[in-house]
Amino acid sequence: AEKAYVDALMAKMTLAEKLGQLNQPPGVGNNTGPAAMAGSEDQVRRGEIGSWLGTHGAALTCRLQRIAIEESRLGIPLLFAYDVIHGMRTVFPVPLGEASSFDPDEARNAARVAAVEATAHGVHWTYAPMVDIARDPRWGRIVEGAGEDPYLGSAFAAARVQGFQGEDLAAPDTLLATAKHFVGYGAAEGGRDYNIAEIPERTLREVYLPPFKAAVDAGAQSVMAAFNEISGVPMHAHQPLIEGVLRGDWGWDGLLVSDYTGVLELMEHGVAATREDAGRLGLRAGVDVDMVSNIYLKDLPVAAQAGRVPMAEVDASVRRVLNAKFRLGLFDDPYRYCKDSARQEAMTLTPEHRAAARRMAQKSMVLLKNEGDVLPLSKSLGTLAVIGPLADEPWGMLGNWVGIGRPADAVTPLAALKEALGERTRLVVAKGADIDSADTSGFDKAVRAAREADAVLMFLGEHPEMSAEANNRTSLDLPGVQQQLALAVAATGKPVVVVLLNGRPLSTGALQGRVPAILEAWFPGVEGGNAIVDLLFGDVGPSGKLPVTVPRNVGQVPIYHAHRNTGRPPAKDNKYTSKYIDVPWTPLYPFGHGLGYTTFGYDAPTVSRATLAPNDLAQQVSVRVTNTGQRAGTEVVQLYLRDDVASVTRPVRELRGFRRVELQPGESRTVMFELGFEDLALYDADMRRVVEPGTFTVFAGGSSEAEQSVAFKVVAR
Ligand code: IFM
Repeated sequence: AEKAYVDALMAKMTLAEKLGQLNQPPGVGNNTGPAAMAGSEDQVRRGEIGSWLGTHGAALTCRLQRIAIEESRLGIPLLFAYDVIHGMRTVFPVPLGEASSFDPDEARNAARVAAVEATAHGVHWTYAPMVDIARDPRWGRIVEGAGEDPYLGSAFAAARVQGFQGEDLAAPDTLLATAKHFVGYGAAEGGRDYNIAEIPERTLREVYLPPFKAAVDAGAQSVMAAFNEISGVPMHAHQPLIEGVLRGDWGWDGLLVSDYTGVLELMEHGVAATREDAGRLGLRAGVDVDMVSNIYLKDLPVAAQAGRVPMAEVDASVRRVLNAKFRLGLFDDPYRYCKDSARQEAMTLTPEHRAAARRMAQKSMVLLKNEGDVLPLSKSLGTLAVIGPLADEPWGMLGNWVGIGRPADAVTPLAALKEALGERTRLVVAKGADIDSADTSGFDKAVRAAREADAVLMFLGEHPEMSAEANNRTSLDLPGVQQQLALAVAATGKPVVVVLLNGRPLSTGALQGRVPAILEAWFPGVEGGNAIVDLLFGDVGPSGKLPVTVPRNVGQVPIYHAHRNTGRPPAKDNKYTSKYIDVPWTPLYPFGHGLGYTTFGYDAPTVSRATLAPNDLAQQVSVRVTNTGQRAGTEVVQLYLRDDVASVTRPVRELRGFRRVELQPGESRTVMFELGFEDLALYDADMRRVVEPGTFTVFAGGSSEAEQSVAFKVVAR
């Protein structure tokens, strides 16, 4: 039906109308909300706009849709796109935080909530999930992805696509999901956003492409091209990867959108001399929708008429835009997302949505250290000092890129503390310092507050504008004088708990040995303050694990767990091995690390078969984990694999499974993992995907430093 419908429609379209479908202008924000740009309504009437960026709200989208349907020649519905990254109005933790939950089901639910709210505001299409692997925390956009690991990243990519798109795309509460940015954007040299990426083919295939493949396999209807180039070819002109790999090898038939002015930027990249060249390159590479450049609409008509742009290329892209509209059911009812204005009110920031955000936030926080079991705190402490620039900043809860989220919706830690503790505990509050200033004049008051207290909570971190797009840093330290503040407060000798609110891993090594407990809360969303308090007082145990390696200092970057061994792996007693002379080679905190309020013990894993034949690669691994502590708790059981000897070098270990399990004190559980061809395979020297004979070692435990292991063999054919 889709093909017949779209064929019939395309048969009626002029070249100008076709190119109009590929054109996406930006919306504009003003004091009263989003609006369409001046003159754009006439463009809709003329069929010059196929989709809109950043235009949302039931009333506005309905009004524009009505113009498209009733006043344009063919009445083709518009698509409304918006960056719904970690919630629409109910802001969830930033995606890096969500990934720390190692709970894709919870992330699927978070995306579902976002879709329900966004669609009620007339939005059809989200520019999420960002599935870029990021191994350089200087890069501000590390906050928007699932971290450094392709296996974890793939699980979250699939889950978030499923959440946004729901089970039936034709239902009026489903968004087209966009896997972005295809591909290699996270490999920006120097962590500088938009910079070039040098990615060897093996790394591209093993690290950067898998989450896109997972998103596509999960049904992602849309993909966004990346701003970067790879080895001299900008991604907006990268025919081999877009047409070759994505559409060719993977058979994906969805809609590919440029990034903001990405087509125009082909001129700055230096591969297009004119706007027309840029448009031709983009279209030829398979970039269907031209976001903001206005090149397809303005510069391609003449080129197409002169035969410099094949009509087949125009048609292929137009078809994909119309297919997307068809799949959303917009040809049946173009107003299905916006006509029920009561839905916009009713479905926004509901108690259920807030509860989901609180649950996600609880799961997303990572207890980095807890010496002497300082945490959990008692609710009847006497006096508690609350110090730091982020203790009571609503915007400091939300992070960057928050849809239509409002700071006023957010619960700060201080507000949550007051609510939870009531009269039982006296709070003394001192900001101490701003996030990013050299002013230490607040230190004295903070130190006095600490001296009065039985315990100290410090809320430190980054401003939301210090991560996300274009917010790159050359330092991974706490900004401003926050570290000095923490050290000054710690010098009082009071038990200090630092809660970090930030969008990238921070190197807080200077606090080691000075501060007994650190909770990484990321930017936790509207319910962040409540979730922090839930964890600090033990109503809920921390269960998050790091989706990124935390470096000791920025000089260790890149540092990630699935590195290859080298011929001289670091060794303490041999100088001539791969390490530094000024800091250890190990990270501050490894990938997968995260403590709870109890402890877990692991038996050595066992495998169902000691040898596998190459034509039967199903392996079952059993991992027995025991709660060895005094409290109930949730552990993320992690499984890593190493191909011990292969025809090409392999990572020292790769994540191949993870599962959250909740255990009572003394309780044991055996968790089963299945390994198959894809888990054991590598790209050989000729880039063929093969499983080679030899031994494999499986490691199981609570972080990437898991020690318990078992080996098995794949025998030769
Ligand atoms: O979706 C984003 C993209 O991730 C970065 N540039 C702007 C786009 C649209 O807002």
